[in-house]
Amino acid sequence: MPETTDKITEQWTSRGGFLLAAIGSAAGLGNIWRFSYVAGENGGASFLIIYLLCILLIGLPIVIAEISMGRNAQCDAVLAFRLANPRYPWHLTGGLAVAGCFFILGFYSVIAGWSLKYFFGALSGSLWDTDDYGDYFSEFISQPVESISWQLMMMTLTVGVVAGGIRKGIEAANRYLMPVLGIIVVVLAAYSLTLDGATKGLAFLFAPDWEAFTRPAVYIAAVGQAFFSLGIGMAIFLTYGAYLGHGHSIPGAAATIVAGDTLLALFAGLAIFPAVFSFGLNPAQGPELAFITLPGLFTLMPGGELIAILFFGLLVGAALTSMFSILEVPVAYFMRRFNLSRRTVTVSLGATIYAVGLPASLGYSIFKSINLGNRTILEIYDYAISNFLLPVGGIAMALFVGWGWGKSSALRASDFNNSVLGKFWLFCLRFIAPIFIGLAFFGASLSK
Ligand code: TRP
Repeated sequence: MPETTDKITEQWTSRGGFLLAAIGSAAGLGNIWRFSYVAGENGGASFLIIYLLCILLIGLPIVIAEISMGRNAQCDAVLAFRLANPRYPWHLTGGLAVAGCFFILGFYSVIAGWSLKYFFGALSGSLWDTDDYGDYFSEFISQPVESISWQLMMMTLTVGVVAGGIRKGIEAANRYLMPVLGIIVVVLAAYSLTLDGATKGLAFLFAPDWEAFTRPAVYIAAVGQAFFSLGIGMAIFLTYGAYLGHGHSIPGAAATIVAGDTLLALFAGLAIFPAVFSFGLNPAQGPELAFITLPGLFTLMPGGELIAILFFGLLVGAALTSMFSILEVPVAYFMRRFNLSRRTVTVSLGATIYAVGLPASLGYSIFKSINLGNRTILEIYDYAISNFLLPVGGIAMALFVGWGWGKSSALRASDFNNSVLGKFWLFCLRFIAPIFIGLAFFGASLSK
């Protein structure tokens, strides 16, 4: 098959359309489901401080790096690396991203499917037919057909939107969904703060426990969470940036995206922790926090049935807007590489990725006996992706833009030109990001 090197022709209708889609990509299950359980397990406020530092000094610079590469190259991740530096095999970074997206979306769609099930359960009222949510959840996930059906529905919705293209599919869906999601999370946080004892949740989230700073595991959890929540290291912003016209300042756009993502995580934290503490529950529940602890809590709250609809609706919507972006990375690559139509590529990749995600889903039923150090298959996907795949992709991205691309190309493409901020940006990419990520890894492996 002759490989084309044609540039992309699709574009966002406006800067606003790009920003909404990019925030939609960043804000997802990671901000709500994952943020709450990881913060819960890692001591709350101390974790939050390290997390915010990672976002500012590593996350934001990498978002800027990705968008700059994408907008400059106007093509998919693999070709973008090849064009930016043809002499060395940096395009493997693009290849890693394309391959990584199969696994990320595969496992992501499983949790998105759980969210959809709970959303319909809250709507129809069937979610209230139990008094033990631990049993409810384990019965649900141990039925293979049911869980893979919800997963299939979420994948089908994603494929439907992405097949519609950049403007009519991804941008249009984000324009409807994002404002609604923003309103829901604010309403949920406001409600949670009115509960008796909410201040204990605030203290957990904002009053640091200094001892936690000495635990290396907290650092690696914070790096992993920063990467997952922003969705960096897998060329998502590179790919979305390829559809962005020139003439919009990239650092400003990146700061808006990062701020939007962080605010959403904070509001989700404000919605969840005050409620958890108000009812005297333990926040360190692991991945089941959103699916076992919270539904039980909704039955105790005044108006909890409505709150549950809003919460799981938020989860489903936020998951969808992220799923579009994770699918778009391989779609852009395969469309160009094999010169196929968007529709054909989207449908075939959707089916393949669904298959890649099946073991994660079936790990609670048919493949129940397979686990590693007490982790289920889904937890292995989650752990390996956030704490390994994304940081490796992110380091490669930071090193490439910092060292491999050429200083003047990078500064020009990012719109920083010769500013002091531009120098600081390169410093973050060259030194801070790789050293900090490296130390977090090293510390975590020493402490095992
Ligand atoms: N950031 C999204 C979330 O918080 C998930 C996501 C989107 C993602 N794109 C990604 C994760 C790329 C890893 C890599 O849920």
